[in-house]
Amino acid sequence: MCGIIGAIGCAHAAEILLAGLKRLEYRGYDSAGIATADASGFAVRRAVGKLSNLASTLESEPLSGETGIGHTRWATHGGVKVENAHPIIADARVAVVHNGIIENHRQLRRELTAKGAVFTSDTDSEVLAHLFAEAIDAGGGLAEATASVLAQIEGAYAFAVMAQDFPHELAIARQASPLAIGLADGAMFVGSDALALGDVSERIIFLKDGDYGVLTQDAAALYDAEGRKANREIVAISASPGLVSKEGYHHFMEKEIHEQPDVALHSLGAFQDAEGRLHLPWDVDFAAMKGVAYLGAGTSYLAGLVGRYWMESLADLPVAVEIASEFRYRQPAMSQINLALGISQSGESLDTLMALKYAGEKGADTGALVNVASSTMAREAKHVLLTRAGVEVGVASTKSYMAQLVVLLILAVVAGHQRGVINDKLRREMEVMLASLPRLLGASMACIDAIKPIATYLARVNSCLYLGRGVLYPVALEGALKLKELSYIHAEGYAGGEMKHGPIALIEEGLPVVALLSDDNHFPKMLSNIVEAKARGAEIILIATESAITKAENEAETITKMKVSVPDCNPLLAPMVLSLPIQQLAYQTATQKGTDVDQPRNLAKSVTVE
Ligand code: F6R
Repeated sequence: MCGIIGAIGCAHAAEILLAGLKRLEYRGYDSAGIATADASGFAVRRAVGKLSNLASTLESEPLSGETGIGHTRWATHGGVKVENAHPIIADARVAVVHNGIIENHRQLRRELTAKGAVFTSDTDSEVLAHLFAEAIDAGGGLAEATASVLAQIEGAYAFAVMAQDFPHELAIARQASPLAIGLADGAMFVGSDALALGDVSERIIFLKDGDYGVLTQDAAALYDAEGRKANREIVAISASPGLVSKEGYHHFMEKEIHEQPDVALHSLGAFQDAEGRLHLPWDVDFAAMKGVAYLGAGTSYLAGLVGRYWMESLADLPVAVEIASEFRYRQPAMSQINLALGISQSGESLDTLMALKYAGEKGADTGALVNVASSTMAREAKHVLLTRAGVEVGVASTKSYMAQLVVLLILAVVAGHQRGVINDKLRREMEVMLASLPRLLGASMACIDAIKPIATYLARVNSCLYLGRGVLYPVALEGALKLKELSYIHAEGYAGGEMKHGPIALIEEGLPVVALLSDDNHFPKMLSNIVEAKARGAEIILIATESAITKAENEAETITKMKVSVPDCNPLLAPMVLSLPIQQLAYQTATQKGTDVDQPRNLAKSVTVE
């Protein structure tokens, strides 16, 4: 993921910025750069590859100045080349570092070009630099210029901007991508996270979505999305917060849940070209395949179950989804399996590693869908698909599961197109639909308040059922897994239609049943299952899209008092959008019970034994 760093009022800004970039390395990147401002104007140094390349450039061509910005870039729009590395400079007077995707960049680029702007990169970020140049020319201060730019852009962003006309200021803003300010005596810093600022500041302000402002050496003037002056809490952090910090959240898991809009953005960006078209970094011919196997454990296995719905419906390609520890010992029939995909956050789960190895030995092509690029699975599989979730510290998988879902949906769309099930027009529609996901996830985050009283209720129960149908059935399984591993409450997930075949016997007065519902073709049957459970005394907790709730209440008025609504979305995106509230429900229930959320008992982040 891209990393941002900025400094004002430092004797050797370039050195401080380079150190900050080093602390951002863990996020992953493929180019980096630093720009500083001194009396003679802007100077920039950029390099592709490792930070050591940028360090060598800086050694031979040092930068002076007390104000500067730096960036590690993970290429999304525009290939990995020096011209696309940040900082990006417009007209030698505005320098920008940006994390995120400006969704309307094509239109803005056309308009700016028509007005005479000369673009030097393929990035979406460059429109920011030209928009700032234009806004500064219109008069007013840097804060006004920032507000004017924000009014024109759509998408997700965190950015820091230097302008020649305001040599002692930095403009900053965030929407869906994280950004933090570091305060120090006589100096001010900005960075993607507290980790980047850990060397230089022990007092951090984490910006909220929609915030923007102007930093000077000794002040941070901040505004909220409505342009009102904003006072944000200053959080004390330790000088050396270790590899990753909680950034003001109570637990890593809470932070990781909140990172998911950004994770979705980067996971998508990694598989999009400059036109927003999806592509895979693989030379895999899905058209010739008879079947694939998805291999995984725990949450990664459940992500595979969701992926099967997509691959079979969008690509008409049979998928065997296998619990890795079962697969290799049951002599599975392999003649119809052309590709085995190991799904794993860590890339180290021994069960999955061995299952993948087994499939390879039996003649299948092997792929690894992993979050750790240097992992064993990534090294051993023939093909690698990286998820862009960043370091996940919480033992219970949240953001890496989200990233797995995003990539599995991309895989299904690309396979469907290759196999002729999806035509060009439909593929384009799906690409556009996928681009809306980060925004939908951001909006779903608003469910937190509705969940609090439900978590208080659940924290007192001993047992709970989760129900879903279709692609929401595996999401119900994931909800139950999250609740049991975090709060130690017994929970089971069932397909709604299965209830009548046995589990309905469990329902008695007061049993909590978490029902997942979206306005899709399963709606009428799922609603019947909910009504059946309620009629037998279940306490229904409805987690559903807005229109599904309205429809359900129209048809079955007193269905429940406990409900959590998320924004309406294409049913293909419902597993992601509805996963946020189920993660929140488990998290909040566990915190109310006082369990060790980040390290639940008996669990390890990476399971390297069988
Ligand atoms: C549950 C969880 C685990 C992991 C499982 C596989 O929240 O995190 O079930 O999903 O141990 O781990 P990876 O994905 O690293 O192979």
